[in-house]
Parts: sequence; structure tokens; C-alpha cells
Amino acid sequence: MSNPRPTLRMAACVAIALEIGFTAAFAARAWAADSAGATLQSASGSQVNGQVTFTQEGNRVRIGGEIRGLTPGAHGFHLHEKGDCSAADAESAGGHFNPTGAPHGGPDNQGGRHAGDFGNISADASGTAKIDVTVSGISVARDRPDSVMGKGVVVHAQADDQKSNPAGNSGGRIACGVVK
Ligand code: CU
Ligand code: ZN
Repeated sequence: MSNPRPTLRMAACVAIALEIGFTAAFAARAWAADSAGATLQSASGSQVNGQVTFTQEGNRVRIGGEIRGLTPGAHGFHLHEKGDCSAADAESAGGHFNPTGAPHGGPDNQGGRHAGDFGNISADASGTAKIDVTVSGISVARDRPDSVMGKGVVVHAQADDQKSNPAGNSGGRIACGVVK
């Protein structure tokens, strides 16, 4: 009778290869499902509303969406630390999401910025802003310190200068939504 070992070893290799393959496929599927969104409703008596989506792309997050009812031009756009839009002026959403204790900045700041600093959105003449920006410092996964889940997306009355603390001089909060 021949030695059965080589066959067993080959079977073990196949089993390990299959397991690696299945694990990779499962991880890829879980990653692909990593998306979140917020529906923004008016605050401070504005007519502003819209939707924002968050999609994990590697170690960055792509933010998309559309905001309507704005005055034309730039408006500060941030993730705030609390998913609470209950106050009429949306102050209940707290300050900018800032898990690293950094100063205020903009999405392109290499030195540091609040993770929730998304810069500005730009409304056209009809008052609609289309959003497409990819940022670092946040994650769509739950149970991570940098997760966007349960935080508040806020649009401001004025432009964010992307340098003044604590919030870029962007004025009042005119729309707010909770990330789910
Ligand atoms: Cu803000
Ligand atoms: Zn900030």
C-alpha cells in the first residue's frame, strides 16, 4: 500500500487555499456593503434639504449627494459630533467631529483638520449643490472611533474659510441630518 501522506498534504493545501479564498471574498463583500447616508432637513428657518451618501473607498470615504434650496455660492459642509438635529438651529449637533483633537481645517489640509471638515459645497444659480468629495479621517464601518455612523451632517449659511477655529466662520446651521 502506498504512502497516503502526499495526497493528504495536497488536500490540506487545497483546503487552506479555499479558506483563504472564501475569507477574501467575504471580506470584500462586507467592505462593499460599507455605505451610509443622511437625509438633511431644514434648520434655522431655511428651505434647505437634501441627501448625502458615504461610501468606503479603501481607507478613504467618498461623499456624494445633492442639497437644494441654498443661496448660490459656497456653504460650509461638515460632519458634527452628535447625531441630534432636534434643535431649531441645529446647535444640538454639537461641534465638528474631531476624534483626533486637531484644529479646524479643510479636506485637503495635510497637516491636520477635524475629521468632519469637508470644506464647502457650491450651489448653482438654482440653489442646488452637487456633492462629490473624497476624504480621509473617517470611516463608514460601525464600531470604529472614526465612524460616521450616528453623527450629524450640517450645511451652513456661509462659506467655510477652512482655517478659523472652531468652525471656519461659516455662520448658522441651515440644514442637518443624522448618518445611518
Ligand atoms: Cu458645521
Ligand atoms: Zn472643523
